Amino acid sequence: MSALDDARTLFTRLTGRDPEGVWSAPGRVNLIGEHTDYNEGFVLPFAIPHRTFAAAGARDDHRIRVTSTFATEPVEVALAELDALFPTHRQAQDPSGSEPAVPEWSAYVLGVAWALQLAAPDAARRGVDIAIASDVPVGAGLSSSAAIEGAVASALNDLWSLGLDPVTLAQVGRRAENEAVGAPTGIMDQMASMLGRADAATFIDCRSLDTESVPTGFTAEGLEVLVIDTRVSHSHSTGGYRERRDACERGAALLGIPSLRDASEADLPRAAELMDDVTFRRVRHVITENQRVLDTVRVLGADGPRAIGDLLVASHASMRDDFEISVPELDLAVQTALEQGAVGARMTGGGFGGAAIALVERDGVDRIADAVTRAFADAGFGAPHVFTVHPSDGPRRDA
Ligand code: GLA
Repeated sequence: MSALDDARTLFTRLTGRDPEGVWSAPGRVNLIGEHTDYNEGFVLPFAIPHRTFAAAGARDDHRIRVTSTFATEPVEVALAELDALFPTHRQAQDPSGSEPAVPEWSAYVLGVAWALQLAAPDAARRGVDIAIASDVPVGAGLSSSAAIEGAVASALNDLWSLGLDPVTLAQVGRRAENEAVGAPTGIMDQMASMLGRADAATFIDCRSLDTESVPTGFTAEGLEVLVIDTRVSHSHSTGGYRERRDACERGAALLGIPSLRDASEADLPRAAELMDDVTFRRVRHVITENQRVLDTVRVLGADGPRAIGDLLVASHASMRDDFEISVPELDLAVQTALEQGAVGARMTGGGFGGAAIALVERDGVDRIADAVTRAFADAGFGAPHVFTVHPSDGPRRDA
């Protein structure tokens, strides 16, 4: 059964009736621009065919009840209770990140309902039942969380007749993630999911939130994007991700600028004098990565997708050596894909596990996938999950 059918069936099992509609939003792969979003810099992600579905229908009271294929039991609260559940700036008040008062999977859904109330405080709301099912792999760095947020935000935007635009819905999703779930992430994933277009990546200026659809030309050029999910699971609610954010903020403060977006490669010698080696390398990653995003957009337009390989490879090296967010499995995936003739390859997403991508010739897909799987076995790593994706459309109403 498809995830769309799963969501619908789950809804009917929960409520005894058919849903009013089913809405979905995609996961994403980031082509380039890692850990630049929360530094108000540039990113170039694209939405993938894997989607999360929210089957939903109104109730005649003012309660919200949610369930998902992950849930052992549904969670139900009054809409009026959401404010108490997610006090604004939970994360800022409690940087140690205490456990949310509801199961984590449900905080993504209820968090979106809560953040929508803050975004459109005057709208009249009915109660609602929501059932979630997904085919976005969880923990793979493909933004399964942004896909849930996008699907739920799209469903409630329609059911509550809010009329909010995709960028506002992306901001709502990010707020849910930061303040309801407590993961200190940037805006890339939600923007990538909400603004996805077939055959195009989305260039995002994470300061202005201006976006531009950038045709990738992958399909026309006979190229495929291979995702190599290492199955090393990561979480951004914890440890390393927050530490990297802190280092970037420290670096910007030492440079006397609001964020690393305001620095360029010309500032690197000064940065080297002002900060310790670790902070300097974190800063160097962000500054050079921003430049690589701009270069990738330019090169894609001028010379086509085969010409971006070196930029992808340089991005991976910078994450491995300067930002130190890769793991041996990701390095092996990238190295093996390149040895087998990939145009380019890099880890994608937040790091510390998750997936790598490789841009490969269509007729090389099986060979490279086999080689990576063999290399993992030889190294004693667990088997990776390898599949192709192509740039896909953003949210939609499916039924
Ligand atoms: C995660 C976060 C994003 C972004 C990436 C790194 O996916 O959710 O906001 O920071 O890591 O580029």
